[in-house]
Amino acid sequence: MRFRLVYYTGTYHTRFLTDKIQKRLEARGHTVERTEINADTMPVNTQGYDLIGLGYPIYGFNSPLPFNRYLKKLNFERGQKFFIYKDSGETFAMNNASSRVILRRMKRRGLNFRGEYHFVMPYNIHFPFEDAFVREILKKDAKLVEIMIYNLEKGRVNEIKSNPVYDLAAFFVSVQKMGGAVNSFFYRVDADKCVRCMKCVNECPEKNIRFEKGKIRFSHRCDMCMRCSFYCPAPAIKIGFLEGWKVNGDYRLEELEQDDSPVAPYIGENSTGFYRCFIRTFAAIDEEYARLFPDPS
Ligand SMILES: Cc1cc2nc3c(=O)[nH]c(=O)nc-3n(C[C@H](O)[C@H](O)[C@H](O)COP(=O)(O)O)c2cc1C
Repeated sequence: MRFRLVYYTGTYHTRFLTDKIQKRLEARGHTVERTEINADTMPVNTQGYDLIGLGYPIYGFNSPLPFNRYLKKLNFERGQKFFIYKDSGETFAMNNASSRVILRRMKRRGLNFRGEYHFVMPYNIHFPFEDAFVREILKKDAKLVEIMIYNLEKGRVNEIKSNPVYDLAAFFVSVQKMGGAVNSFFYRVDADKCVRCMKCVNECPEKNIRFEKGKIRFSHRCDMCMRCSFYCPAPAIKIGFLEGWKVNGDYRLEELEQDDSPVAPYIGENSTGFYRCFIRTFAAIDEEYARLFPDPS
């Protein structure tokens, strides 16, 4: 089959996931073209593909605004088949509402929905995940990629069910609508720490950061993707109201994924508090994977 993957990414977790999906699709003989959405990404051709994959990180229980805006510009054919892969740091049921805007728009345009898959990826905001947990997450993601490809090949549609309460709550929490513009008035760079590497200036997907008169300056087109502060080597960037939730530092996903040294499972029946939401998610992935790909031994 011929695939096109169209995705948005802030701190490159969704890019990492897209790499994995592309690699596995190609290993199964499919062809894949992909487009990463930035402020200046031109609308791509969507015609002649068997499946369009739409990938995004969940922001405040919603899909990111630049992602929604970009999809509006694409010229889809009626009946075009598409699927959604999304990722986020936790699996609270409110996240189930995140695709409601794009699903509504795509259905209105006559597109043919072929399923939705929710991957866990480490938080790039709130608090950093431990390496052992990230390794476990990546193992479950690898299984979910296989499940997703199996279903897409067989034409099986996996739906993620939301409900009107989650939808309404997600609507009220759509943080980015005003959040980025307002919060960006409060971004500061610690001049003593800043190493003038220009990483933030060069990599901001909205081209919202510039170097002027010896200082890093922000405009107000911020999507709150966190790329600037997450990868700042100093770290020197203060992110306004979200400073207390800042996560700084690359998770070294490739390295952790390849690390096969034994560790005790991070999530289990005894997991408490925040971590409880992963018990059912991970068990469901394990169960479905074992059902679709039974161990021959
Ligand atoms: C502004 C913002 C809001 C977020 N909101 C949520 C959320 O509602 N639920 C969640 O599980 N993760 C949330 N996250 C975490 C990201 O979805 C997660 O870390 C994701 O893997 C980031 O992907 P990316 O690197 O491709 O941007 C949020 C992150 C940001 C920056």
